[in-house]
This record gives sequence, C-alpha cells and structure tokens, in this order.
Amino acid sequence: DTKLDLRAKEILRTNDRGGYTVPTAGLYPYQWNWDSAFVALGFAAFDIDRAWTEVGSLLAGQWPDGMVPHIIFQRVDDSYFPGPDQWGTTTSPPTSGITQPPVAATIVRRLHDLEPAKGRRRAEAALVALDRWHEWFATARDPAGRGLVAIIHPWESGRDNLPDWDRPLSFVDTSKVGAYERRDTQHVAADQRPHQHEYDRYLALVAFGRDNHWDPAAIAAGSPFWVADVGVNAILLRAERDLAALAGALGDSDIADRATRRAERLQDGLASLWSDAAGGYVSLDLRREEHATTLSAGAFLPLYAGGVPADRAERLIPTLRHWLDAVRYGVPSFDPTDPQFDPIRYWRGPIWAVVNWMIAEGLAGAGHADLADRIRVDTRALIRQSGFYESFSPIDGRGCGGKDFSWTAAIWLAMTA
Ligand code: DGY
Repeated sequence: DTKLDLRAKEILRTNDRGGYTVPTAGLYPYQWNWDSAFVALGFAAFDIDRAWTEVGSLLAGQWPDGMVPHIIFQRVDDSYFPGPDQWGTTTSPPTSGITQPPVAATIVRRLHDLEPAKGRRRAEAALVALDRWHEWFATARDPAGRGLVAIIHPWESGRDNLPDWDRPLSFVDTSKVGAYERRDTQHVAADQRPHQHEYDRYLALVAFGRDNHWDPAAIAAGSPFWVADVGVNAILLRAERDLAALAGALGDSDIADRATRRAERLQDGLASLWSDAAGGYVSLDLRREEHATTLSAGAFLPLYAGGVPADRAERLIPTLRHWLDAVRYGVPSFDPTDPQFDPIRYWRGPIWAVVNWMIAEGLAGAGHADLADRIRVDTRALIRQSGFYESFSPIDGRGCGGKDFSWTAAIWLAMTA
C-alpha cells in the first residue's frame, strides 16, 4: 500500500490551492466546509502544520453571527454553479449562505491531541471560533430549544439528495426559478447526479435565503425546508462532546460548560429521532412533524455521537450486518433493500469514505471492533480497486462522482495511520 499512501498525499498536495484544499478539480473548485475538516485529518498523517492551516482557512470564513459557511469562494471559478452571485452574500471573500455538517471540532481535538504543546495556540484560536459556530447552531437553528437543529437546504446535510429529502422538498415552490445552466453534469455523468426537479428546488431554496438576506430569524420563521437531519444532529452532538473535552484540556471552563450544556440538550433531541416503525434513527421534517420512513447510513451516526441506549444499539447492529450482507461493499448511503436504493446516484446508495470513517469510529467506541474493522477493510478495498473516487457503488465497487477526491485520500491516510 506504500504506493497508495504516496498517491493519497499527492492528491492532497495537488488539490491544495494555497492554504485551502478543493474537494476535486472541476466539479468542486472552491473550499467546502466538511471536506476541509476531513482534509485536515488527512494532512495530520504527514504534515500537521498544513493540517492546522486548513482549519485556519476554513474558520477564517466564519460569519459575524458565528455561522461557518458551506462554501468559501476563495477565487472565482466559472466551472461551478451556483456561484457568488446566486448566493448574494456580502462577505469577502464571498461565501454560500448555508452551513455543513460540523465535524471540525472533532478533528481539531484530534490535531491538538497529536501534539498538544505544538498545537496549543492554534487550538485555542479554533476553540473560540468553534464555540461560536456551535452556539449559532443552538440559537439560529433551534430557536425553540427542543434539542434538534434544523437544516434549511439539503446541501447542509452534506448528503445532498437522500430520498429523505424528497417529501420535504415536494413542498418547495419552484415557479420562480427560471432558466439556468447546471455545471455539475458537465463534469460527472448525469445518472450519478441529482435530477433536474431536485436541482430546481435547491435553487429555489437558495433564492429564499438570498431574498431574506440570510437572516436567521426570517429563515426560521419561513423557510420552506426546515428539517432535523439525523446526520447533522449526531455529528453536532459528537462535536460538542469533543469541544468540551478540548476546552477542558486547554483550561477554558466557560466553553467546556457551554458545550456540555448544549450536548445534554442535543442528546435529548437525538433520542426523539428514533423511529420504531423504521427501526432506527431517522430525520424529522420539523414543519410537518413527520419522521422519514426509511433508513439511511445516518441511522448509524448516533453511535458516533455516543450515548445510544443499549436496546436501540441492539436493533441497529443487526440492521447494519444485514445491509453489509446484502451488498458487496459497505456502508451504502441508503438502505440497499429499499426500492429507492440506487447504487450510483448521489447519496441514494453509493458509499462515502467519510461516512464509513464516522460509522467505524462509532462502532469501535460502542464496543463493536469487529464491525468497525469490516467497514475499514471495505473502505480500503474500494480505494485499492477503483482509486480515490468521490463515492463507490456498493454492488460492484466502481468509482462514482469526482475523481482524485481530497477527502477519500484523507480517509485512506487516516485509516492506515
Ligand atoms: C453541490 O452539489 O453543488 C453542492 O454545493 C454540494 O455542497
């Protein structure tokens, strides 16, 4: 595997645009939020300074209200749509107006723990920014204080076109969207990307935010899409726990207390995403109080968050084994036994290395080392077979989406380190 180690490092170096890393050339030519966090984890395997630089450039994009945006448009590049004009934000550099799964605190804690003395100053700076971001989630996205944060766009889930979003999206009015030219399908085959009717809704939601000047109160009151994603809520809960631990290590008791309080509230909220009917944790449409009726890989992410009650874990583990037995490689992003499963279309079936990393971390932490290993073995086998693709078919392992993908390279390094 030495060759693949070298190749993974080379991909990160090649996608480095000078202090920030693009997910892949062409399809995603800017800095993406959770991609950057995973990229930092990858760089940490061989260049800890560069890892901290990635964290720094991501958090430098933080808005005055605390949000850390999903895209930072570091240098204008016409190969991507929707660009800065469509988002209509006012920061410099421009950014999108939405956020993405907050994995950063978990990864920052790891960077710090690798070399605590060396990383102290940068960890302290990141700690303050991350606390502000998490506080923003708690207020802007959970104004009622129920312990569940909402997403206002499927792109905030990072799992962009899961079948879970189909019904909440069906209520989004697209009559004012008008004509536009997609760029994603110029880089990747259309059968691996979202459908046009989904894209129309994505753009209608961007227009809603822009027309409301990305004002959190107006968005909370009126966003046509307002959904508690099980993935984002589990990732945030884990991030709060890691932030509290990091704050403790750095001697900041104020932040440690705040993060612990927020984590307690999220722990209660996450429990309410359990669905007996679906047999696992699912997303909840907060406008209609409707749970999703099918399981995605997100069902297993509460194990990564920690604190899953034993009776629920006892239902999740056999389900995961059943999924893994139904396909050649795991973990599919969506239930492979459901008719909506599609092995190559974006988030409706393919495997993502970053999701595997989180699920494996969760399983190992919950005492299922054998299953965690099985998932790591599958992840490495996929990369060995097909290269560093954005995602992979669970059926035959073929690579899908963008190639030479930064976070796939990062996870290779993190899983072999
Ligand atoms: C996309 O697919 O273009 C989204 O921006 C991903 O975040």
